[in-house]
Amino acid sequence: MNYHVLTLFPQMIVDGLNTSIIGRAIENGLISLNTVDIRDFSTNKHKKVDDYPYGGGAGMVMQAEPVYGAYEAVAEKIGRKPRVVFLTPQGRVFNQEIAQELAAEEDLVFLCGHYEGIDERVLEEIVTDNISIGDYVLTGGELPAMVMIDAISRLVPGVLNNEVSAEFESFQDNLLEYPQYSRPVEWMGKKVPEVLMSGHHGNVEQWRHEQSLLRTAERRPDLLEKAELTKKDREFLGR
Ligand code: ADE
Repeated sequence: MNYHVLTLFPQMIVDGLNTSIIGRAIENGLISLNTVDIRDFSTNKHKKVDDYPYGGGAGMVMQAEPVYGAYEAVAEKIGRKPRVVFLTPQGRVFNQEIAQELAAEEDLVFLCGHYEGIDERVLEEIVTDNISIGDYVLTGGELPAMVMIDAISRLVPGVLNNEVSAEFESFQDNLLEYPQYSRPVEWMGKKVPEVLMSGHHGNVEQWRHEQSLLRTAERRPDLLEKAELTKKDREFLGR
């Protein structure tokens, strides 16, 4: 998986992703992170990349040409037209299903906007996917791009050291994960549930599944609607 991030703040992307699991995946060559500074493609002698909006209004607009130059540099490098994700509150809301779909791509370009937006003409020309990370407005697309890169990368084979964990956790089956416990057996007067120390694998699995059901019903009833529940599951939840 090769990520290409078109941004005015490349350092923010590098600093945000060079640590821990994603940092190690980059080091191991499982994913690559190529940041492209849009300012390098300014044709203006002062390296300006924004200007006033036609029609008036507050703020500045990122101009089409430097954004297009940054995009072309990537397209030329990889030798074809890549999928280009524009981070915008006007996009499809990102979720695990979209993460899975994008994890199958070889190259992904993320376009990060700033100021009041980007000239519509270049967006029409290069963007294949408009994606939002939620119904709130951020100051730029960098954090959303990092959120997406993190969520997609952990689905790339080898990035997580335990293969099972990416498959079986929250959202894959529209159920939230069960609670986890580690040593000590008692902390602040709270004991680890007995069944987890029983060594009975079947009982542990059943308890965890029931906890997932209860948790989802309590915290995310909207997800439970989408989950495929067995007759036994429904009986357990009393529905
Ligand atoms: N840019 C600003 N806000 C955003 C959001 N919520 N999602 C994606 N990109 C954004």
